[in-house]
Amino acid sequence: MSARIIDGNALSAAVRADLAERAAKLVARGITPSLAVILVGEDPASAVYVRNKVAACEKAGMRSLKFVYAPDVNPAEVFAKIAELNADASVHGILVQLPLPKHFDADAVLEAIAADKDVDGFHAENVGALAQGNPRFIPCTPYGVMKMLESSGTPTKGAEAVIVGRSNIVGKPMALLLLGAGCTVTVCHSQTRDLAFHTRRADILVAAVGRPKMITGDMIKPGATVIDVGINRLPPEQGGKLCGDVDFDSAKEVAGAITPVPGGVGPMTITMLLANTLEAAERSLT
Ligand code: GUN
Repeated sequence: MSARIIDGNALSAAVRADLAERAAKLVARGITPSLAVILVGEDPASAVYVRNKVAACEKAGMRSLKFVYAPDVNPAEVFAKIAELNADASVHGILVQLPLPKHFDADAVLEAIAADKDVDGFHAENVGALAQGNPRFIPCTPYGVMKMLESSGTPTKGAEAVIVGRSNIVGKPMALLLLGAGCTVTVCHSQTRDLAFHTRRADILVAAVGRPKMITGDMIKPGATVIDVGINRLPPEQGGKLCGDVDFDSAKEVAGAITPVPGGVGPMTITMLLANTLEAAERSLT
């Protein structure tokens, strides 16, 4: 049996069409939803993500501002830019692409962004609001995953959800969202004993570890919904292609529904960033 594919590109296109309509309504009222993106350093993957975020904004009729800094920039310069953007009423969302170079205190940078412009949902205030069950900005990747579960008709109430990975960007907020949706949630990580014991119990399995093909078909419960957050580049001797944290070929024979890489979670992450930026702009009206 082969799993149903949860198509992130198709879902993204549908959600983005709706966002573009909402953006146009704001523009007609004299407000152009605007996202400022800050990139520090020359990490090639980060540069690609930022380029894609900026392009998606423009395509949805939103404005984007991009600020790029050398890897050895004095952090004070970046903090000054954040303060300027916080004070600029024409900017609705601010995003600092992670990871930052080692000489930065990343937490301090995230805290410097005004909570009501923190479209990544990484500010402690927004993390706290999510933990309390009253989210203001939901981190984009787990937000996109929730949309994919919804669109694929995956029931969440009472479901066993297992997340592999405990990052602040994906694993932890994912756990809070699934908990809020009625799942019994297990978070696995690098110190988890017998990972497969946990993953085999999952009705919903979210892989977010950054290790190519580490979740194989024998670790999946038949009929489960499998969400692959990983975006890994295989080494040139293995073809150099992108692949997820899930071994798609073996997993699709066991799962009931599965997201591909590329074309799964990736496009949805950017879509939900647009949704958060639009939301911030709409809130600025009230
Ligand atoms: N780096 C990897 N994922 C993300 C994300 O969602 N937001 C930001 N700002 N940086 C990231």
